Amino acid sequence: MRILSGIQPSGRLHVGNFFGMMEPAIRLQDEGEAFYFIADYHSLTTVHDPGTLRGNVRDVAIDFLACGLDPAKATFFRQSDVPEVTELTWLLSTVTPMGLLERCHSYKDKTSRGLEATHGLFAYPVLMAADILIYDSEVVPVGEDQKQHLEVTRDIAGKFNHRYGEVFVIPEPRIRGDKAKVPGLDGQKMSKSYDNTLEIFAAEKALRKKIMGIVTDSTPVDEPKDPAGSIIVDLYRLVAGEAEVEAMEAEFRAGGVGYGDFKKRLFGAFWEHFEPMRARREELLADPGYVDGVLASGAERARAVARATLDRARAACGIGGAP
Ligand code: ADP
Ligand code: TRP
Repeated sequence: MRILSGIQPSGRLHVGNFFGMMEPAIRLQDEGEAFYFIADYHSLTTVHDPGTLRGNVRDVAIDFLACGLDPAKATFFRQSDVPEVTELTWLLSTVTPMGLLERCHSYKDKTSRGLEATHGLFAYPVLMAADILIYDSEVVPVGEDQKQHLEVTRDIAGKFNHRYGEVFVIPEPRIRGDKAKVPGLDGQKMSKSYDNTLEIFAAEKALRKKIMGIVTDSTPVDEPKDPAGSIIVDLYRLVAGEAEVEAMEAEFRAGGVGYGDFKKRLFGAFWEHFEPMRARREELLADPGYVDGVLASGAERARAVARATLDRARAACGIGGAP
């Protein structure tokens, strides 16, 4: 089974990224041939400072490895180290109906938040389709919000295959049943763009401050509280065991414990959950050559696969000499 996923280096990784995409991807590396990449071409639609982009790529590489991506099992690389993907994007764009892209929520969301309506932002899903199709991917682990992009990819692959013959594998999204939509500190979807994230590797003080700052209602300490829909409980569920969550829910209902205490418990569970990954991250930070080496050998492996698919696609549509 060929598995593929990508993540944009558009800021520090947060627990939404972790539970929605990284953890499932890391688990899948034991089940098939995994390709995971850092989508730096995609990030050009939102990150416009070259130094920031390079720094973000490095941070994402270190953080993903710290979380358990194993380069002995998964091919890990930078999207732009395989420039073949941009040529495939063009071939795919010639079969992509405008209407398909016009329906994409993510373009509408981003422009309504004030991002410039560039062609790159509009054509973003075509590059994403090329990412997926160029590695003959069968399974794509992503969070709930990427579902529509996967549907677009399947449509584009189908159009190309219909016009030119069976060139591409049609991929399946793999969206986990639970934790696919992690709430942010304000109750909206957790996202870098909403400034409501808990970063996986935030410093202790900053993380404590963010958690203690979660806005709650003004129910007094002694009164019963409703655990349903509480962000504290929802976030606790991500990092605590079932029995611990049930205990917290019972204490919510019983009254007698204030929100401040629940938040302290959330912080403790969170800090403990990511402890081993923080330790691994310290080791990686001390060994920059290792990270460069992982990305370089990943790129080499990925590029060989990409080249073969691109050649197949070029030949199918009559680009270049006879095959
Ligand atoms: P952001 O919204 O913070 O910019 P990205 O769009 O870069 O995050 O998402 C990277 C990956 O993490 C995607 O697979 C996405 O589905 C997943 N993801 C992002 N936010 C969440 C969330 N709140 N819950 C679950 N998965 C998420
Ligand atoms: N669009 C994805 C996101 O914002 C990142 C991405 C780019 C991706 N190419 C991909 C994800 C290919 C899965 C497969 O999260």
